[in-house]
Amino acid sequence: MSSKRVAVVTGANKGVGFGVVRALCKQFDGDVILTARDVDRGQQAVTDLNQEGLRPRFHQLDITDTDSVDALATFLKDNYGGLDFLVNNAAIAYKAKSPASFSEQALESVRCNFTGTLSVTRALTPLLRPHARVVIVSSEASKRAVDKCSSERQAQFRDPSLTMEGLQSLMAEFVQDTAAGTHEQRGWPNTAYGVSKIGETVMAFILTRELAADSREDIIVNACCPGHVDTDMSSHLGPLTIDQGADTPVFLALLPPGAETPKGQFCRLKKAEDW
Ligand SMILES: NC(=O)c1ccc[n+]([C@@H]2O[C@H](COP(=O)([O-])OP(=O)(O)OC[C@H]3O[C@@H](n4cnc5c(N)ncnc54)[C@H](OP(=O)(O)O)[C@@H]3O)[C@@H](O)[C@H]2O)c1
Repeated sequence: MSSKRVAVVTGANKGVGFGVVRALCKQFDGDVILTARDVDRGQQAVTDLNQEGLRPRFHQLDITDTDSVDALATFLKDNYGGLDFLVNNAAIAYKAKSPASFSEQALESVRCNFTGTLSVTRALTPLLRPHARVVIVSSEASKRAVDKCSSERQAQFRDPSLTMEGLQSLMAEFVQDTAAGTHEQRGWPNTAYGVSKIGETVMAFILTRELAADSREDIIVNACCPGHVDTDMSSHLGPLTIDQGADTPVFLALLPPGAETPKGQFCRLKKAEDW
């Protein structure tokens, strides 16, 4: 087993995640694990980076599949005995013209973006070494969505004593309320992606509170928005390149030992913002 430092990036076969792997390969003196749910797409991405002279390793990871998540955790434990950087980037977003019902979009967006990200983070947190960094690539859409929630819902998400179980219950309530067609009267906005991203942003705040009591020193968790990036998700409407989109997640992943800030915050353009 190697004690070499190691970084994991989820959903990295394309888009912002691919940009994050490329930047980490250049800036981080350790192994970078490019993960993708589809083996062929992931291996093709590694081949593309090899052609740039970069040497990421590949591991399959579907964040919605607990066997796949467990297999990655075992691989890291057996090969590295720990983890130094985790960039939770994988996510889905339905297109405006999608024929899927709103309740299906809510179910699947929460299942992948919130529950999947939480599952990976829960499985890999025991492996985090002192000074590890966890980045949750959320979105400015989380802020817009929380601002559109009723004042009661906003207070629930911003409650400093909210636990992860409490957050999971709120996400489950959103999914149930969309199935019952009552989500608007129950204080939710009309955005499945936005609410799933509220879950991801608040997850970073709660993980920070949990880790404050952890014996491992200086583990920092932040959520961020990569900006509006030219990717499949944005239908290539974003003005930023994937390398520019990677800037903020990579900045947060490489925060130096002992960094005081940002810590447990939502960041955009490398700066913490009120959320
Ligand atoms: N682009 C923007 O303007 C923008 C703005 C704000 C926030 N973001 C956030 O930035 C992150 C990256 O977005 P992007 O624009 O780069 O999107 P993208 O080009 O659609 O890439 C998304 C990546 O996530 C992967 N993925 C989806 N579901 C997965 C699962 N269950 N398990 C593992 N991987 C999965 C995709 O794999 P497949 O190729 O197999 O589908 C793909 O590699 C997301 O969290 C997104 O919400 C993007």
